[in-house]
Amino acid sequence: MKIGIYAGTFDPVTNGHLSVLQKAAEVFDLVIIAIAADNNKKTLFTLEERQRLVEESIAQMENVTVETFSGLLVNYAEQKGATALVRGLRAVSDFEYEMQMALFNKDLAHGLETVFFIADVEHSFISSSQVKNIAALGGKIDKYVSPAVEKALAEKYQ
Ligand code: COA
Repeated sequence: MKIGIYAGTFDPVTNGHLSVLQKAAEVFDLVIIAIAADNNKKTLFTLEERQRLVEESIAQMENVTVETFSGLLVNYAEQKGATALVRGLRAVSDFEYEMQMALFNKDLAHGLETVFFIADVEHSFISSSQVKNIAALGGKIDKYVSPAVEKALAEKYQ
């Protein structure tokens, strides 16, 4: 069974993440969305909220599960029997950070590979931070996030 682990902060999950997830779900038998409990980002949504929003946004996807993890991603991936890590690439500017992370993870986990999916053009400029900024200022975000995330952001910023 080929298991891909798509880890991130997902604060909140966007349509860009969901499109990468859809591509990964066609390649792997199972994709685990692994939401990071502790990295250096100060999040708007709690871990539980981020998990609920991902679950509500992927309702129709059968071979996808959502979990949270803490500590090193490679330890979690090993515990899950992961075949590879999954990440999305939106633009060349993502490459340096992603390559460094992939090489660190490969080194730490003795060869665990990262598989990259190229984001579709219509998602290539979306980021969670910008979506939050737009929502905070009362702008329309329905093209960038699921209805569940749109509602949750409206509630946070009302
Ligand atoms: N579509 C839309 N947005 C995307 C995207 C896509 N396809 N791919 C990335 N992004 C955006 C996100 O919205 C987010 O934007 P923001 O910075 O404005 O919030 C940003 O790119 C990256 O976020 P995300 O994909 O959630 O990943 P991350 O970089 O926050 O997560 C972890 C990194 C959690 C995978 C990493 O920190 C980790 O593994 N932590 C665990 C500890 C560890 O093992 N550390 C050693 C790692 S070498």
